Amino acid sequence: MSKEKVVLAYSGGLDTSVCIKWLQVEKNLDVIAICGNVGQDEKDLEWIRQKALDMGAIASEAVDMRAEYARDFLSKAIWANGKYEGVYPLLSALSRPLISKHLVEIAHRYGAKYVAHGCTGKGNDQVRFETSIRALDPDLEIIAPVREWDLTSRESEMEWAAAHDVPVPTTKKKPYSIDDNLWGRAIECGVLEDTWNTPPADIWTMTADPVDCPAEPETVIIGFEGGVPTSINGEKMELLDLIIKANEIAGRNGYGRLDMIEDRVVGIKSRECYECPAALLLIEAHHTLETLCLDYETLKEKAKLDVEWASAVYRGLWFSQNRFALDAYNAYTQKFVTGEVRIKLCRGGLFVDGVRSDYSLYDKNLATYDEGDTFPHEAAPGFIELHSMQHRTWSRVQGPGSGLQKID
Ligand code: ARG
Repeated sequence: MSKEKVVLAYSGGLDTSVCIKWLQVEKNLDVIAICGNVGQDEKDLEWIRQKALDMGAIASEAVDMRAEYARDFLSKAIWANGKYEGVYPLLSALSRPLISKHLVEIAHRYGAKYVAHGCTGKGNDQVRFETSIRALDPDLEIIAPVREWDLTSRESEMEWAAAHDVPVPTTKKKPYSIDDNLWGRAIECGVLEDTWNTPPADIWTMTADPVDCPAEPETVIIGFEGGVPTSINGEKMELLDLIIKANEIAGRNGYGRLDMIEDRVVGIKSRECYECPAALLLIEAHHTLETLCLDYETLKEKAKLDVEWASAVYRGLWFSQNRFALDAYNAYTQKFVTGEVRIKLCRGGLFVDGVRSDYSLYDKNLATYDEGDTFPHEAAPGFIELHSMQHRTWSRVQGPGSGLQKID
């Protein structure tokens, strides 16, 4: 009888390499290893694909997911100014549902009964993978070998690997746990686990050290259409290329580093360092343009929904009724978020320098203190009369004017 099949999200690292063998040995499954290109630093996916085959995977595919990632995921993150706890632009949280979608499609193509990932039981990524996979196909079964096996120390994992012909890294254990893609890099563990330790200089690879950056600011103009960036310095480009370029520009000016205490889904706080030059630059520019093109009520409501959007995506609920509904709200609000934002970057700082739009709600004639003022000054007293009506009554009955309350 032929074996059942499992589709594994494969990164080429030690954990997922051991997974390939472990799924064969312990679960008696045929393994299909998938390496997704989401714009991570590791470019040699062909080598990783071959490594999976060498370890006995019956098939292995390297899938370029970058254009889809930019088009269907990152554009929505920009719409929502997506930052978890107001800080973290969700780079890992956004890539997991994308990878999950491919895992499910590939499982269907191969007739696989199982999908597997290499996440531990302590992180958010297991939640994102499994919630996404279940939402897309509730009948697929999920295996999380790292959560299941008892190879708790790195030594025992290396021993198991050596005993089963899994190539073990000859270099020393990497001092950090790193996840990276187009939207930035996440660095955790090692010395960062002491929240008082300064992040060592060697954790940063996408951003220059601000003290080494040119003192002269670099100006960059981001053009948007319907809330999505479409040009840099007047040059039109696909979102994927634009993000790559924005990473370069902001990165060389030392912009995009974060160091935060983050609240994980599984109830723990963790210290996370991120560098996300393009993500932070584009979200900042986008939100600036929104302040020009959206009215006060919408900005106020959207700010609340943006918090909800980021929290839902962080918690693995990309494929959910709520996220789809929030994006429907955003689709409407973004219709006229078209225009340009000029930004200056200098030594790790970002300074908004100008904004314009054909759909701007800013009316210079209403705002000006100079000639040409069309503001109806005569309407102001009547407005204030009504605006303060309740407060005058309150003052007389309960407040300072009633003599009941002491003003201190
Ligand atoms: N704390 C971030 C998040 O949950 C980053 C996770 C990075 N993942 C990793 N395997 N290092 O989104």
